[in-house]
Amino acid sequence: MPLPPPSTDTTILVTGASSGIGEAIARELAGRGYNLFLVARRRARLESLARELDVEVDLLAADLATDRGRAKVLRAVRGGERELIGVVNNAGQAGFGDVVEHDPKDEEAIFRTNALALFDLTNQLVRDLVDRGEGAILNIGSITAFAPFPNNATYAATKAFVHSFSEALHSELSGTGVSCTVASPGPTRTPIWERSDGGGLEGLGGPLVWQSAEQVAREAVDGMAGGRRTVLPGLTNKVASLAQRFTPRTALLPVTRAVTKFAM
Ligand SMILES: NC(=O)c1ccc[n+]([C@@H]2O[C@H](COP(=O)([O-])OP(=O)(O)OC[C@H]3O[C@@H](n4cnc5c(N)ncnc54)[C@H](OP(=O)(O)O)[C@@H]3O)[C@@H](O)[C@H]2O)c1
Repeated sequence: MPLPPPSTDTTILVTGASSGIGEAIARELAGRGYNLFLVARRRARLESLARELDVEVDLLAADLATDRGRAKVLRAVRGGERELIGVVNNAGQAGFGDVVEHDPKDEEAIFRTNALALFDLTNQLVRDLVDRGEGAILNIGSITAFAPFPNNATYAATKAFVHSFSEALHSELSGTGVSCTVASPGPTRTPIWERSDGGGLEGLGGPLVWQSAEQVAREAVDGMAGGRRTVLPGLTNKVASLAQRFTPRTALLPVTRAVTKFAM
């Protein structure tokens, strides 16, 4: 199995563990016996999660959108007591509304967190795992990777990058003992919607469309443990991703824009 079994002297890095899917992934991995290295900006939330988990937890407050924050994480992970056997790049931000309506700095923060930070941590840490000869990377993408998304343009573009990079890396890693899995959740009930002005879209389409963070985390961690290339949690998302890939953009773009504008 690409993700080695848990042991006292190893750990898994989980970014964005202070809420939502990242917190659920941390709980899922801890439930399977893995020690954790948790990262997000809100230290207090990481500390309270760490107190609840029955494994060894290191934690670090860092802003992954900054070069300094990522350097701090890399130093701490590499200098830690436990050897790294897994990386979960989950931290992410969204921003509903037109690009030109947003502060350029906010759009850039989405790009830096979702694409640059994920790329940087993967690009650096995959080498450590390959040297070790075992390990697993789980990158959290999105169903928005499969088509451009007006009213969430930068976010969807970063997720297209995550998907393409992760799938190619998975192929390149063949035979190294290391795997790279990309999970592409659809709509999931987490604070990201309120935090990104997309609260009006929450619940749209009903319970068949929406998953819990725990459901997504379970499927994503199963995929990571099995060294799978891709994970598309939920049946509805599997169907939706096909529609996104094969509907002509001339039809898809105005519909996506109209639905999101109406709901927001
Ligand atoms: N919810 C959905 O419907 C959905 C669907 C598809 C994909 N996803 C993806 O799932 C991942 C988790 O999102 P979520 O829905 O669980 O949202 P969430 O509850 O808002 O969690 C986002 C996490 O990322 C962390 N984060 C954001 N910016 C950061 C930064 N600059 N540096 C460090 N940490 C940062 C946040 O922690 P701090 O604020 O404490 O830093 C938080 O822990 C994201 O990659 C998102 O794109 C979500």
